[in-house]
Amino acid sequence: MTGPQPAGPPPARPDALTSAAPASEGASSGRIPAGSPVFDPTVPNAARIYDYLLGGKDHFPPDRDAGGRLVDTMPLIKASVRANREFLIRAAGDLAGRGYDAFIDLGSGLPTQRNVHQVVQAVNPDARVVYVDHDPTVIAHGRAILNAPGVAMLHGDLRQPDRILDSPILTELIDLGRPVVVVAVAVLHFVGDHEDPGAIVARLRARLAPGSRIVISHACLDGMAPEAVAKGVAIYRNTATPITPRSRAEISALLAGCELEEPGLVEVSDWKPEPDQPHEDIGDARFVGGVADLHAYGAPKSPADP
Ligand SMILES: C[S@@+](CC[C@H](N)C(=O)[O-])C[C@H]1O[C@@H](n2cnc3c(N)ncnc32)[C@H](O)[C@@H]1O
Repeated sequence: MTGPQPAGPPPARPDALTSAAPASEGASSGRIPAGSPVFDPTVPNAARIYDYLLGGKDHFPPDRDAGGRLVDTMPLIKASVRANREFLIRAAGDLAGRGYDAFIDLGSGLPTQRNVHQVVQAVNPDARVVYVDHDPTVIAHGRAILNAPGVAMLHGDLRQPDRILDSPILTELIDLGRPVVVVAVAVLHFVGDHEDPGAIVARLRARLAPGSRIVISHACLDGMAPEAVAKGVAIYRNTATPITPRSRAEISALLAGCELEEPGLVEVSDWKPEPDQPHEDIGDARFVGGVADLHAYGAPKSPADP
């Protein structure tokens, strides 16, 4: 294990927060794959649909229409999305409490009420967070709102993990020689089978230091009515990010070579629930989630371990 991350976060870098490529630049520059979202309020968009389902304010009529149709199909989906967000918050707080101080949030989404840096910097004010998203709307909102020390916003696509990890925006804040936490919550289902999401996780494992963790959640097919799944998939087909819900076995396979921590890959509301946490019934729109050691065998268990 190498030494700790540098003491104290550097001040917020305006250029880090504004270095996102404009919508027109991303895909054409080759930095973002063709077909990634561009700002278009007339087309439903995954980040804005999620914001609508979470009860946020950053969405347009086509997003509300798509979100409304998802609610018609899966009446408990809003509770499910809230439970997913609460899982992310519990997992990030748990890892910060165990000494992790560097977080890479892939597919971070539109800023919401408790963002990852607010959760982990409440535990350790020196913790650093790099938010990554391929959607220029997310980047623009993040630039405006997430301007805090130790925080950066990177316009990147998780299907290009090396570009993300080699970005100076990231390496200026995060020492990849030490354990980091990759947050991949509610995002790998936007990577199709033909894009090999397991290879993305494998590449992160190859690049990141022993002791690194991945927080994952994923739309899960198990127990879902096939008609509801088909309708949900059809709604996302009209966005730049088609969705691929997977079975728990398929999601586990994405983590091949990783070692899941207890309690494993479980329904998100069952992952280390707070003692007073109400159990929301999310039976018709499942997310499963968990935390895994990216390196299965013999890796240090946390930054605090020798
Ligand atoms: C459902 S939101 C999840 C937000 C947050 N992770 C959470 O769980 O609360 C999914 C986000 O992933 C982003 N996304 C989808 N595919 C992506 C990709 N290939 N690379 C980077 N971001 C992606 C979307 O733009 C969107 O903001």
